[in-house]
Amino acid sequence: MSLPLDVLSVNSMLELRHRPRRLRRTSTIRDLVRETRLSPKDFIMPLFVVEGHNVKNEIGSMQGQYHFSVDRLNEVTDSLLDVGVQHVILFGIPDEKDSEGRVSLDSDGIIQRAARHLREQYAELFITTDVCLCEYTNHGHCGLLDGHSVNNDETLLILQEQAVSHARAGADMVAPSGMMDGVVAALRVALDEAELVETAIMSYSAKYASAYYGPFRDAAQSAPAFGDRRGYQMDPANRREALREVLDDVHEGADIVMVKPALAYLDIIREVRDSVNLPVACYSVSGEYTMIKLAAQAGLIDGDAIMLESLTAMKRAGADIIITYFAEDASRLLSRKA
Ligand code: PBG
Ligand code: ZN
Repeated sequence: MSLPLDVLSVNSMLELRHRPRRLRRTSTIRDLVRETRLSPKDFIMPLFVVEGHNVKNEIGSMQGQYHFSVDRLNEVTDSLLDVGVQHVILFGIPDEKDSEGRVSLDSDGIIQRAARHLREQYAELFITTDVCLCEYTNHGHCGLLDGHSVNNDETLLILQEQAVSHARAGADMVAPSGMMDGVVAALRVALDEAELVETAIMSYSAKYASAYYGPFRDAAQSAPAFGDRRGYQMDPANRREALREVLDDVHEGADIVMVKPALAYLDIIREVRDSVNLPVACYSVSGEYTMIKLAAQAGLIDGDAIMLESLTAMKRAGADIIITYFAEDASRLLSRKA
């Protein structure tokens, strides 16, 4: 003979005082208890600027991303501002390259013209520039070469000039991405001496030697002509070392620290968030973008849903700021949902 189990006895048997499903019943209650919220204000959109006029060419390796000439940049910045994204980070692709990336110092260089143009057009746009040499050197490495290795301290001198030149052209923030030791201190001193004390530094503090950069190197024409970047970028296997890099940058005067890539390095983002008081950015890189784009196009995943889930994961891991090629798409979706 079996006794009928009523609700009460199930309750007392299992001691289900806490029923988490109560707070998952409807979208209204889920909205109330959600711990992580994405906003267009979280995002920085990377833009690739090329020489010439009237250029808007889709980048082969990064569907939905474009090379823009300076005169057509407004098309993308207008739509970004329209959906509430106020931040861009500029990458310049010059026509001419040399062994020292000297063209990056030209006050009329590609980034300088882009920054000046945007500064004049928009008061509300915050302009960050990538400070590195790989887009400007004919060998594609992020610094000056000594034989086959990058000379750290000589590279710092040229990066100082580049950062000052970007700031003079209108950059609000410079972002050194070459993983040179001491670069934050070097840029801070140079900017301060040039009386550019208000120019902020967002350091690519923990940047890993990652295969996820593949599509970007095609977009920026910055693949190294020989060897790889493992002599300066971090070993993907290392976690403790990331913290040292970040703490060094904090000490050297960084305003914002960054972890890059993002999705495969969520543990590093969390660790950094728990260890410093500065804003923490993450860079969701070209490979992360392209994998989602192409899988969605093949009809294998729901691209919009995976995009938002991935960005949410980065923020949940501790990123205050997300640099993402999805900045516009995600913001459009978020404003439609809100
Ligand atoms: C170059 C630089 C890279 C990226 C940003 N700045 C590529 C690299 O280090 O080879 C990668 C961005 C991306 O993949 O989206 N200093
Ligand atoms: Zn570089």
